[in-house]
Amino acid sequence: MREFDDALADNVVIRQADRADLLDVLRIERACFSEPWPYSAFELFVDEPAFLVATRENEVLGYVVADVMPNHGNDIGHVKDLAVREDARGNGLGRRLLVQSLAAMTIAGATVVKLEVRVSNDPAIRLYRSVGFESARRIPGYYGNGEDAYIMVLDLSEWKSD
Ligand SMILES: CC(C)(COP(=O)(O)OP(=O)(O)OC[C@H]1O[C@@H](n2cnc3c(N)ncnc32)[C@H](O)[C@@H]1OP(=O)(O)O)[C@@H](O)C(=O)NCCC(=O)NCCS
Repeated sequence: MREFDDALADNVVIRQADRADLLDVLRIERACFSEPWPYSAFELFVDEPAFLVATRENEVLGYVVADVMPNHGNDIGHVKDLAVREDARGNGLGRRLLVQSLAAMTIAGATVVKLEVRVSNDPAIRLYRSVGFESARRIPGYYGNGEDAYIMVLDLSEWKSD
């Protein structure tokens, strides 16, 4: 789990994803999720300001996909996907990706951000809570295997990134 060299966490750059990153992203996606997104889904988001990758020497270690939808002046951000390569976890990259995507969505005009998470996904739920997300409701059978989802919400007007 912690094969990643902690000292190298300092050399990780978070930047907007580009097309050349997508095969690395897809590899991580397939290793992390039982119902992975296809390549074509990532392609759709490649120009989104909140589709970010964490890279070290241009090797992708993690990513977040988020976008902002107009909603009559109360635009809604949506964190759609977040993953960190297993050997790079526990080094703060998930938090850095999430926080920088929230900053990008704030700049893009979002006032509130939502996401869905499996009710069994403790590491992700703890990360989201620690950043300020709260569980708004539970959706029965949201996932393909019948598992429930929590919808979690963050009010960006009350959010501070520190
Ligand atoms: C969720 C995920 C992105 C976290 O990435 P990460 O880089 O390991 O996270 P960080 O090192 O930034 O940790 C941030 C916080 O997440 C929580 N967390 C991370 N790993 C955890 C674990 N194994 N158990 C409990 N909490 C954990 C903690 O609150 C942690 O804060 P702390 O270090 O102050 O305790 C990563 O575990 C992952 O890719 N999981 C598989 C994909 C997934 O489930 N994505 C979310 C879909 S909704």
